[in-house]
Amino acid sequence: MPSLKGCYNIGDLRRRAKARLPAPMFHYIDGGSDDEWTLRRNTNAFDDCELMPNYLRDISQVKLGKTVMGRELALPFFLSPTGMSRLFHHEKELGACRAADKFGTLYSLSTLSTTSLEDVAAATAGPKMFQIYILKDRLLTREFVQRCKSSGYHALCLTVDTMVAGNRERDLVNGMTMPPRITSISNFFSYARSVHWWLNMLRDPDFRLANVAHRVDALGGGAMGLIDYVNSQFDRSVTWDDVAWLVEQWDGPFLIKGLQSAQDARRAMDVGATGVMISNHGGRQLDSTPAPFDCVEDMRNAVGDGLELIVDGGIRRGTHIIKALCRGADACSVGRAYLYGLAAGGQAGVERALELLRSELERGLALLGVADVSELGPGHLRELCSGDFKAGNQAPDQGARG
Ligand code: FNR
Repeated sequence: MPSLKGCYNIGDLRRRAKARLPAPMFHYIDGGSDDEWTLRRNTNAFDDCELMPNYLRDISQVKLGKTVMGRELALPFFLSPTGMSRLFHHEKELGACRAADKFGTLYSLSTLSTTSLEDVAAATAGPKMFQIYILKDRLLTREFVQRCKSSGYHALCLTVDTMVAGNRERDLVNGMTMPPRITSISNFFSYARSVHWWLNMLRDPDFRLANVAHRVDALGGGAMGLIDYVNSQFDRSVTWDDVAWLVEQWDGPFLIKGLQSAQDARRAMDVGATGVMISNHGGRQLDSTPAPFDCVEDMRNAVGDGLELIVDGGIRRGTHIIKALCRGADACSVGRAYLYGLAAGGQAGVERALELLRSELERGLALLGVADVSELGPGHLRELCSGDFKAGNQAPDQGARG
Protein backbone atom coordinates (compact mmCIF):
# COMPACT_ATOMS: atom_id res chain seq x y z
CA MET A 1 0.00 0.00 0.00
CA PRO A 2 1.66 3.25 -1.08
CA SER A 3 1.96 6.02 1.47
CA LEU A 4 -0.18 8.99 0.58
CA LYS A 5 0.52 10.65 3.91
CA GLY A 6 1.02 14.37 3.55
CA CYS A 7 -1.14 14.64 0.41
CA TYR A 8 -3.70 17.28 1.36
CA ASN A 9 -4.55 18.60 -2.08
CA ILE A 10 -4.06 17.79 -5.77
CA GLY A 11 -0.83 19.79 -5.78
CA ASP A 12 0.58 17.43 -3.13
CA LEU A 13 -0.36 14.42 -5.26
CA ARG A 14 1.37 16.08 -8.18
CA ARG A 15 4.57 16.46 -6.14
CA ARG A 16 4.34 12.82 -5.05
CA ALA A 17 3.88 11.74 -8.67
CA LYS A 18 6.89 13.78 -9.67
CA ALA A 19 9.02 12.11 -7.02
CA ARG A 20 7.99 8.59 -8.09
CA LEU A 21 7.99 8.76 -11.88
CA PRO A 22 10.92 8.96 -14.29
CA ALA A 23 10.97 12.42 -15.88
CA PRO A 24 9.58 11.32 -19.29
CA MET A 25 6.44 9.89 -17.67
CA PHE A 26 5.89 12.74 -15.23
CA HIS A 27 6.22 15.41 -17.90
CA TYR A 28 4.01 13.45 -20.26
CA ILE A 29 1.21 13.89 -17.70
CA ASP A 30 2.12 17.36 -16.53
CA GLY A 31 3.08 19.13 -19.75
CA GLY A 32 1.22 20.98 -22.45
CA SER A 33 1.97 22.22 -25.94
CA ASP A 34 4.24 25.04 -27.13
CA ASP A 35 4.57 27.71 -24.40
CA GLU A 36 1.94 26.04 -22.20
CA TRP A 37 -0.06 29.26 -22.06
CA THR A 38 -3.35 27.36 -22.40
CA LEU A 39 -2.24 24.78 -19.83
CA ARG A 40 -1.73 27.55 -17.25
CA ARG A 41 -4.77 29.53 -18.33
CA ASN A 42 -7.07 26.50 -17.88
CA THR A 43 -6.55 26.67 -14.12
CA ASN A 44 -5.90 30.39 -13.73
CA ALA A 45 -9.17 31.32 -15.44
CA PHE A 46 -10.94 30.24 -12.26
CA ASP A 47 -9.14 33.05 -10.40
CA ASP A 48 -10.88 35.71 -12.48
CA CYS A 49 -14.01 35.49 -10.36
CA GLU A 50 -14.97 35.14 -6.72
CA LEU A 51 -17.63 33.15 -4.90
CA MET A 52 -20.37 35.10 -3.11
CA PRO A 53 -21.64 33.25 -0.01
CA ASN A 54 -25.05 33.61 1.61
CA TYR A 55 -25.17 32.65 5.29
CA LEU A 56 -27.80 31.36 7.70
CA ARG A 57 -29.19 28.75 5.29
CA ASP A 58 -29.89 25.16 6.33
CA ILE A 59 -26.91 23.25 5.01
CA SER A 60 -27.16 20.27 7.37
CA GLN A 61 -27.37 18.01 4.28
CA VAL A 62 -25.34 18.91 1.18
CA LYS A 63 -26.33 17.13 -2.03
CA LEU A 64 -23.55 16.61 -4.57
CA GLY A 65 -25.27 14.25 -7.03
CA LYS A 66 -26.17 15.17 -10.61
CA THR A 67 -27.79 13.45 -13.55
CA VAL A 68 -25.33 13.35 -16.43
CA MET A 69 -26.34 11.82 -19.76
CA GLY A 70 -29.33 10.21 -18.10
CA ARG A 71 -27.28 8.59 -15.32
CA GLU A 72 -27.46 9.57 -11.65
CA LEU A 73 -23.91 10.28 -10.53
CA ALA A 74 -23.02 10.77 -6.88
CA LEU A 75 -20.71 13.64 -7.88
CA PRO A 76 -20.97 16.49 -10.38
CA PHE A 77 -17.63 15.52 -11.90
CA PHE A 78 -16.14 12.45 -13.55
CA LEU A 79 -12.90 11.08 -14.95
CA SER A 80 -11.77 12.27 -18.41
CA PRO A 81 -10.28 9.78 -20.86
CA THR A 82 -6.49 9.59 -20.68
CA GLY A 83 -4.30 7.23 -22.67
CA MET A 84 -1.53 4.83 -21.67
CA SER A 85 -2.13 4.64 -17.92
CA ARG A 86 0.27 1.68 -17.63
CA LEU A 87 3.11 4.19 -17.97
CA PHE A 88 2.24 5.55 -14.54
CA HIS A 89 1.17 2.54 -12.44
CA HIS A 90 0.58 -1.20 -12.93
CA GLU A 91 -3.01 -0.82 -11.69
CA LYS A 92 -3.52 1.38 -14.77
CA GLU A 93 -7.05 1.94 -16.14
CA LEU A 94 -8.54 -0.74 -13.86
CA GLY A 95 -7.39 1.14 -10.74
CA ALA A 96 -8.86 4.41 -11.99
CA CYS A 97 -12.11 2.77 -13.06
CA ARG A 98 -12.55 1.00 -9.71
CA ALA A 99 -11.89 4.25 -7.85
CA ALA A 100 -14.52 6.04 -9.96
CA ASP A 101 -17.00 3.27 -9.18
CA LYS A 102 -16.35 3.55 -5.43
CA PHE A 103 -17.19 7.24 -5.63
CA GLY A 104 -20.32 6.64 -7.71
CA THR A 105 -19.09 8.49 -10.76
CA LEU A 106 -18.38 7.81 -14.41
CA TYR A 107 -15.09 6.54 -15.82
CA SER A 108 -14.07 7.41 -19.38
CA LEU A 109 -11.77 5.00 -21.18
CA SER A 110 -9.41 6.25 -23.89
CA THR A 111 -9.05 4.46 -27.23
CA LEU A 112 -5.33 4.55 -26.42
CA SER A 113 -5.67 2.66 -23.14
CA THR A 114 -3.37 -0.09 -21.94
CA THR A 115 -6.35 -2.20 -20.79
CA SER A 116 -8.92 -3.48 -23.27
CA LEU A 117 -12.37 -1.92 -23.27
CA GLU A 118 -13.83 -5.35 -22.45
CA ASP A 119 -11.63 -5.78 -19.36
CA VAL A 120 -12.55 -2.31 -18.12
CA ALA A 121 -16.24 -3.00 -18.73
CA ALA A 122 -16.00 -6.19 -16.67
CA ALA A 123 -14.17 -4.52 -13.76
CA THR A 124 -17.17 -2.67 -12.26
CA ALA A 125 -20.89 -2.24 -12.70
CA GLY A 126 -20.57 1.56 -12.70
CA PRO A 127 -21.29 3.80 -15.71
CA LYS A 128 -18.58 4.02 -18.35
CA MET A 129 -17.95 6.07 -21.44
CA PHE A 130 -15.65 5.07 -24.28
CA GLN A 131 -13.61 7.81 -25.96
CA ILE A 132 -13.48 7.16 -29.68
CA TYR A 133 -11.80 8.71 -32.72
CA ILE A 134 -13.06 8.69 -36.28
CA LEU A 135 -10.03 6.94 -37.72
CA LYS A 136 -8.96 6.57 -41.33
CA ASP A 137 -9.78 2.92 -40.81
CA ARG A 138 -13.55 3.40 -40.46
CA LEU A 139 -13.94 -0.34 -40.03
CA LEU A 140 -11.98 -0.09 -36.78
CA THR A 141 -14.15 2.83 -35.63
CA ARG A 142 -17.24 0.73 -36.35
CA GLU A 143 -15.67 -2.22 -34.59
CA PHE A 144 -15.23 -0.05 -31.47
CA VAL A 145 -18.90 0.94 -31.58
CA GLN A 146 -19.92 -2.71 -31.73
CA ARG A 147 -17.53 -3.74 -28.96
CA CYS A 148 -18.82 -0.91 -26.74
CA LYS A 149 -22.42 -1.97 -27.34
CA SER A 150 -21.63 -5.60 -26.57
CA SER A 151 -19.74 -4.74 -23.39
CA GLY A 152 -22.38 -2.36 -22.03
CA TYR A 153 -20.77 1.08 -22.29
CA HIS A 154 -23.23 3.77 -21.33
CA ALA A 155 -21.92 6.58 -23.56
CA LEU A 156 -19.55 7.38 -26.38
CA CYS A 157 -17.32 10.42 -26.48
CA LEU A 158 -15.77 11.54 -29.76
CA THR A 159 -12.50 13.49 -29.46
CA VAL A 160 -12.17 15.99 -32.30
CA ASP A 161 -9.12 18.09 -31.41
CA THR A 162 -6.32 15.65 -32.27
CA MET A 163 -6.33 15.40 -36.06
CA VAL A 164 -2.75 16.72 -35.79
CA ALA A 165 -0.45 15.90 -32.83
CA GLY A 166 0.20 18.83 -30.46
CA ASN A 167 3.78 20.10 -30.08
CA ARG A 168 4.71 18.84 -26.61
CA GLU A 169 8.25 20.02 -26.11
CA ARG A 170 8.65 18.46 -22.67
CA ASP A 171 8.28 15.04 -24.33
CA LEU A 172 11.12 15.89 -26.72
CA VAL A 173 13.34 17.30 -23.95
CA ASN A 174 12.81 14.27 -21.69
CA GLY A 175 12.87 11.54 -24.33
CA MET A 176 9.32 10.28 -23.83
CA THR A 177 8.71 7.03 -25.73
CA MET A 178 6.04 4.35 -25.64
CA PRO A 179 7.02 1.75 -24.56
CA PRO A 180 9.54 3.47 -22.25
CA ARG A 181 13.13 3.47 -23.51
CA ILE A 182 16.41 4.97 -22.38
CA THR A 183 17.24 7.57 -25.00
CA SER A 184 19.98 9.68 -23.37
CA ILE A 185 22.30 9.85 -20.37
CA SER A 186 20.03 12.26 -18.52
CA ASN A 187 16.98 10.12 -19.03
CA PHE A 188 19.04 7.04 -17.99
CA PHE A 189 19.66 8.72 -14.61
CA SER A 190 16.03 9.71 -14.35
CA TYR A 191 14.94 6.09 -14.88
CA ALA A 192 17.69 4.82 -12.58
CA ARG A 193 16.56 6.85 -9.58
CA SER A 194 12.88 5.88 -9.94
CA VAL A 195 12.97 2.73 -7.83
CA HIS A 196 9.21 2.60 -7.21
CA TRP A 197 8.51 2.84 -10.89
CA TRP A 198 10.90 -0.04 -11.68
CA LEU A 199 9.34 -2.29 -9.05
CA ASN A 200 6.03 -1.42 -10.54
CA MET A 201 7.27 -2.15 -14.02
CA LEU A 202 8.37 -5.66 -12.99
CA ARG A 203 4.85 -6.48 -11.81
CA ASP A 204 3.41 -5.99 -15.29
CA PRO A 205 5.71 -5.10 -18.18
CA ASP A 206 2.90 -5.06 -20.75
CA PHE A 207 2.66 -1.58 -22.29
CA ARG A 208 0.56 -2.50 -25.32
CA LEU A 209 -2.31 -0.30 -26.48
CA ALA A 210 -4.82 -3.01 -25.76
CA ASN A 211 -7.68 -1.80 -27.96
CA VAL A 212 -5.72 -1.58 -31.18
CA ALA A 213 -2.96 -4.18 -30.67
CA HIS A 214 -4.85 -6.85 -32.65
CA ARG A 215 -4.92 -4.56 -35.68
CA VAL A 216 -1.18 -4.00 -35.60
CA ASP A 217 -0.44 -7.68 -34.93
CA ALA A 218 -2.47 -8.47 -38.02
CA LEU A 219 -0.27 -6.06 -39.97
CA GLY A 220 2.87 -7.69 -38.53
CA GLY A 221 4.05 -4.61 -36.52
CA GLY A 222 5.92 -4.58 -33.19
CA ALA A 223 5.47 -2.30 -30.17
CA MET A 224 6.67 0.84 -31.94
CA GLY A 225 4.60 -0.12 -34.94
CA LEU A 226 1.63 0.37 -32.64
CA ILE A 227 2.28 4.06 -32.03
CA ASP A 228 3.10 4.59 -35.69
CA TYR A 229 -0.13 2.84 -36.60
CA VAL A 230 -2.18 5.06 -34.29
CA ASN A 231 -0.54 8.27 -35.54
CA SER A 232 -1.10 7.20 -39.11
CA GLN A 233 -4.78 6.70 -38.35
CA PHE A 234 -5.65 10.31 -37.39
CA ASP A 235 -7.77 11.63 -40.22
CA ARG A 236 -7.60 15.31 -41.17
CA SER A 237 -10.55 15.01 -43.51
CA VAL A 238 -13.17 14.30 -40.78
CA THR A 239 -16.15 16.72 -40.87
CA TRP A 240 -19.54 17.17 -39.23
CA ASP A 241 -21.01 14.66 -41.72
CA ASP A 242 -18.77 11.97 -40.24
CA VAL A 243 -19.89 12.95 -36.74
CA ALA A 244 -23.54 12.63 -37.80
CA TRP A 245 -22.70 9.15 -39.17
CA LEU A 246 -21.13 8.10 -35.86
CA VAL A 247 -24.03 9.47 -33.78
CA GLU A 248 -26.32 7.31 -35.88
CA GLN A 249 -24.11 4.23 -35.53
CA TRP A 250 -24.04 4.56 -31.75
CA ASP A 251 -27.63 5.58 -31.10
CA GLY A 252 -27.12 6.41 -27.41
CA PRO A 253 -25.67 9.16 -25.16
CA PHE A 254 -23.00 10.89 -27.24
CA LEU A 255 -20.53 13.61 -26.25
CA ILE A 256 -18.24 15.59 -28.53
CA LYS A 257 -14.98 16.37 -26.77
CA GLY A 258 -12.79 19.32 -27.69
CA LEU A 259 -15.25 22.04 -28.77
CA GLN A 260 -14.95 25.62 -27.51
CA SER A 261 -17.10 27.89 -29.69
CA ALA A 262 -20.81 28.70 -29.60
CA GLN A 263 -20.96 27.98 -33.31
CA ASP A 264 -19.62 24.43 -32.85
CA ALA A 265 -21.98 23.87 -29.92
CA ARG A 266 -24.91 24.65 -32.23
CA ARG A 267 -23.54 22.23 -34.84
CA ALA A 268 -23.19 19.56 -32.13
CA MET A 269 -26.85 20.01 -31.28
CA ASP A 270 -27.80 19.79 -34.96
CA VAL A 271 -26.05 16.44 -35.44
CA GLY A 272 -27.85 14.99 -32.42
CA ALA A 273 -25.11 14.96 -29.75
CA THR A 274 -26.23 14.69 -26.13
CA GLY A 275 -23.53 17.03 -24.92
CA VAL A 276 -20.16 18.63 -25.36
CA MET A 277 -17.01 18.33 -23.32
CA ILE A 278 -15.72 21.90 -23.51
CA SER A 279 -12.04 21.12 -23.74
CA ASN A 280 -8.68 22.02 -25.25
CA HIS A 281 -7.25 18.59 -24.40
CA GLY A 282 -5.81 19.93 -21.16
CA GLY A 283 -3.64 22.46 -23.04
CA ARG A 284 -1.90 19.66 -24.96
CA GLN A 285 -3.05 20.53 -28.48
CA LEU A 286 -3.47 24.10 -29.83
CA ASP A 287 -1.74 26.55 -27.50
CA SER A 288 -3.42 29.97 -26.99
CA THR A 289 -6.93 28.54 -27.02
CA PRO A 290 -9.25 29.78 -24.25
CA ALA A 291 -9.81 28.00 -20.96
CA PRO A 292 -12.94 25.79 -21.02
CA PHE A 293 -14.27 27.78 -18.04
CA ASP A 294 -14.21 30.95 -20.17
CA CYS A 295 -16.24 29.29 -22.94
CA VAL A 296 -19.22 28.07 -20.91
CA GLU A 297 -21.32 31.20 -20.94
CA ASP A 298 -21.31 31.75 -24.71
CA MET A 299 -21.94 28.08 -25.40
CA ARG A 300 -24.79 27.94 -22.89
CA ASN A 301 -26.37 31.03 -24.42
CA ALA A 302 -26.10 29.39 -27.85
CA VAL A 303 -27.73 26.05 -26.97
CA GLY A 304 -29.95 26.79 -23.96
CA ASP A 305 -30.91 23.47 -22.40
CA GLY A 306 -30.43 21.63 -25.69
CA LEU A 307 -27.00 20.20 -24.81
CA GLU A 308 -25.22 19.06 -21.68
CA LEU A 309 -22.05 21.07 -21.19
CA ILE A 310 -19.09 19.54 -19.37
CA VAL A 311 -16.13 21.71 -18.35
CA ASP A 312 -12.96 19.68 -18.95
CA GLY A 313 -9.64 21.32 -18.12
CA GLY A 314 -7.67 22.91 -15.33
CA ILE A 315 -9.70 21.60 -12.39
CA ARG A 316 -7.54 21.14 -9.29
CA ARG A 317 -9.90 22.30 -6.51
CA GLY A 318 -13.50 21.79 -5.42
CA THR A 319 -14.05 25.54 -5.82
CA HIS A 320 -13.14 25.23 -9.51
CA ILE A 321 -16.01 22.78 -9.97
CA ILE A 322 -18.34 25.11 -8.07
CA LYS A 323 -17.39 28.04 -10.29
CA ALA A 324 -17.86 26.02 -13.48
CA LEU A 325 -21.36 24.96 -12.37
CA CYS A 326 -22.21 28.56 -11.43
CA ARG A 327 -21.25 29.63 -14.97
CA GLY A 328 -23.72 27.15 -16.48
CA ALA A 329 -21.90 23.82 -16.83
CA ASP A 330 -23.91 20.68 -16.09
CA ALA A 331 -20.85 18.85 -14.78
CA CYS A 332 -17.05 18.82 -14.93
CA SER A 333 -14.41 16.27 -15.72
CA VAL A 334 -10.85 15.89 -14.51
CA GLY A 335 -7.74 14.45 -16.15
CA ARG A 336 -4.45 15.26 -14.45
CA ALA A 337 -6.05 15.53 -11.01
CA TYR A 338 -6.62 11.75 -10.97
CA LEU A 339 -3.54 10.85 -13.02
CA TYR A 340 -1.29 12.45 -10.40
CA GLY A 341 -3.09 10.23 -7.88
CA LEU A 342 -2.65 7.13 -10.05
CA ALA A 343 1.07 7.81 -10.41
CA ALA A 344 1.41 8.56 -6.69
CA GLY A 345 -0.34 5.41 -5.46
CA GLY A 346 -2.38 3.45 -8.00
CA GLN A 347 -6.07 3.00 -7.22
CA ALA A 348 -5.55 4.33 -3.68
CA GLY A 349 -4.04 7.48 -5.15
CA VAL A 350 -6.98 8.00 -7.51
CA GLU A 351 -9.31 7.50 -4.55
CA ARG A 352 -7.35 10.12 -2.61
CA ALA A 353 -7.71 12.57 -5.51
CA LEU A 354 -11.46 11.99 -5.72
CA GLU A 355 -11.84 12.19 -1.95
CA LEU A 356 -9.98 15.50 -1.85
CA LEU A 357 -12.11 17.01 -4.62
CA ARG A 358 -15.31 15.67 -3.07
CA SER A 359 -14.55 17.04 0.38
CA GLU A 360 -13.44 20.41 -1.00
CA LEU A 361 -16.64 20.56 -3.01
CA GLU A 362 -18.88 19.66 -0.10
CA ARG A 363 -17.15 22.08 2.25
CA GLY A 364 -17.25 24.79 -0.41
CA LEU A 365 -20.99 24.37 -0.96
CA ALA A 366 -21.71 24.43 2.76
CA LEU A 367 -19.66 27.59 3.22
CA LEU A 368 -21.40 29.13 0.23
CA GLY A 369 -24.79 28.43 1.83
CA VAL A 370 -25.90 26.00 -0.90
CA ALA A 371 -27.51 22.69 0.08
CA ASP A 372 -27.81 21.21 -3.42
CA VAL A 373 -25.23 21.45 -6.17
CA SER A 374 -28.06 21.95 -8.70
CA GLU A 375 -28.90 25.30 -7.07
CA LEU A 376 -25.61 26.89 -8.13
CA GLY A 377 -26.00 29.78 -10.54
CA PRO A 378 -24.48 33.06 -11.72
CA GLY A 379 -25.71 34.77 -8.54
CA HIS A 380 -22.98 32.95 -6.62
CA LEU A 381 -20.21 34.38 -8.81
CA ARG A 382 -18.71 37.85 -8.92
CA GLU A 383 -16.38 38.76 -11.79
CA LEU A 384 -13.18 40.50 -10.83
CA CYS A 385 -12.71 43.84 -12.57
CA SER A 386 -9.31 44.91 -13.92
CA GLY A 387 -8.61 47.01 -10.81
CA ASP A 388 -9.33 44.10 -8.46
CA PHE A 389 -6.78 41.53 -7.36
CA LYS A 390 -6.03 38.99 -10.09
CA ALA A 391 -3.62 36.12 -9.67
CA GLY A 392 -0.61 35.97 -11.97
CA ASN A 393 -0.73 33.42 -14.79
CA GLN A 394 0.90 30.77 -12.64
CA ALA A 395 -0.91 28.21 -10.52
CA PRO A 396 0.90 27.20 -7.33
CA ASP A 397 1.02 23.52 -8.26
CA GLN A 398 2.23 24.00 -11.81
CA GLY A 399 5.15 25.51 -13.63
CA ALA A 400 6.50 25.24 -17.13
CA ARG A 401 9.21 22.69 -16.30
CA GLY A 402 8.99 22.68 -12.52
C1 FNR B 1 -5.14 13.28 -21.97
N1 FNR B 1 -6.31 13.61 -22.64
C2 FNR B 1 -6.84 12.72 -23.56
N2 FNR B 1 -8.02 13.01 -24.18
C3 FNR B 1 -8.58 12.13 -25.05
O1 FNR B 1 -9.64 12.42 -25.60
N3 FNR B 1 -7.95 10.94 -25.32
C4 FNR B 1 -6.78 10.57 -24.73
O2 FNR B 1 -6.25 9.49 -24.98
C5 FNR B 1 -6.18 11.50 -23.84
N4 FNR B 1 -5.00 11.21 -23.22
C6 FNR B 1 -4.47 12.07 -22.27
C7 FNR B 1 -3.30 11.71 -21.59
C8 FNR B 1 -2.80 12.54 -20.61
C9 FNR B 1 -1.54 12.16 -19.89
C10 FNR B 1 -3.47 13.75 -20.28
C11 FNR B 1 -2.95 14.66 -19.19
C12 FNR B 1 -4.62 14.10 -20.95
C13 FNR B 1 -7.03 14.85 -22.32
C14 FNR B 1 -8.00 14.62 -21.16
O3 FNR B 1 -9.07 13.82 -21.55
C15 FNR B 1 -8.59 15.95 -20.64
O4 FNR B 1 -9.15 16.64 -21.72
C16 FNR B 1 -7.58 16.83 -19.94
O5 FNR B 1 -6.71 16.07 -19.14
C17 FNR B 1 -8.32 17.85 -19.08
O6 FNR B 1 -7.45 18.74 -18.48
P1 FNR B 1 -6.88 18.54 -16.98
O7 FNR B 1 -8.04 18.10 -16.11
O8 FNR B 1 -5.82 17.50 -17.09
O9 FNR B 1 -6.35 19.88 -16.64
